Amino acid sequence: EMFQEVSGLSTKEKKLAEILGIKKVIIVPGDMDVDSSIQLLLGKEAGDYLTAIAKKDFTVAITGGSTVAALKNFLSPSKSLSTLTFVAARGSLGNEMNLQANTLVSQFAAKCGADFRTLYLPENLSETAFMTMIQEPIVKEVVDFYDRIDIVVHGIGTAKEMAYRRDSGESVIKMLDEKKAVGEAFGYYFDEAGNIIYRINTIGIQLEQVKQSPHIIAVAGGTLKAKAIQAYFKNETAHQTILITDEGAANAILNK
Ligand code: F6P
Repeated sequence: EMFQEVSGLSTKEKKLAEILGIKKVIIVPGDMDVDSSIQLLLGKEAGDYLTAIAKKDFTVAITGGSTVAALKNFLSPSKSLSTLTFVAARGSLGNEMNLQANTLVSQFAAKCGADFRTLYLPENLSETAFMTMIQEPIVKEVVDFYDRIDIVVHGIGTAKEMAYRRDSGESVIKMLDEKKAVGEAFGYYFDEAGNIIYRINTIGIQLEQVKQSPHIIAVAGGTLKAKAIQAYFKNETAHQTILITDEGAANAILNK
């Protein structure tokens, strides 16, 4: 019975990878929305995967979020991990200090004995502030990393949850609603067809730079995120992405 369960999942993994147009999918059993401890399983798979592909002096861009945060329990110093540089993929996010990329890179680096780079900037910068900030040497140093990232580890969220977490104003929320935003990743909001309908004006890795990275690990699970995950991958995505998800999200996409 155990074997059937495992082989059943691997069939689903192949199907889902095909549907999403990506290299590989790993499905952990359960649904994060029903049992929040499933998020730890996602973190473990992602941590193990990162450990397996990491090579000496690799640079690793990390986004924020609770799912990416779950990796930190499964990282430890090793020959290659301790030579990594973890780079925050974006500037800070509202008040949620412990879910920020900046916080996560320093925690991951501490776990591995690795190096890290942070980017402390407000979200929703004005055009003028943005143009000034991006020329600052301390900002430029981090931004230059984005062109030579070896591994990207990122979360995917629902548009609603992310707009809410970011304290986005009423007009932004109304616009996301009208344009039918369903998913969010890297500060980009997507509709069901995968069109980018809105972008947060902050300094961070660009989708083009993500696509240039040879390794991409996406971690997101839960039935409620199914549409968001599908929307993100409908955008002309990086085919080299490995998605680590749970049965909740996988079944919701496969049974549509
Ligand atoms: O804010 C960073 C981020 O990675 C978003 O891009 C993504 O939508 C969200 O976090 C996912 O967060 P969680 O894993 O907590 O659902």
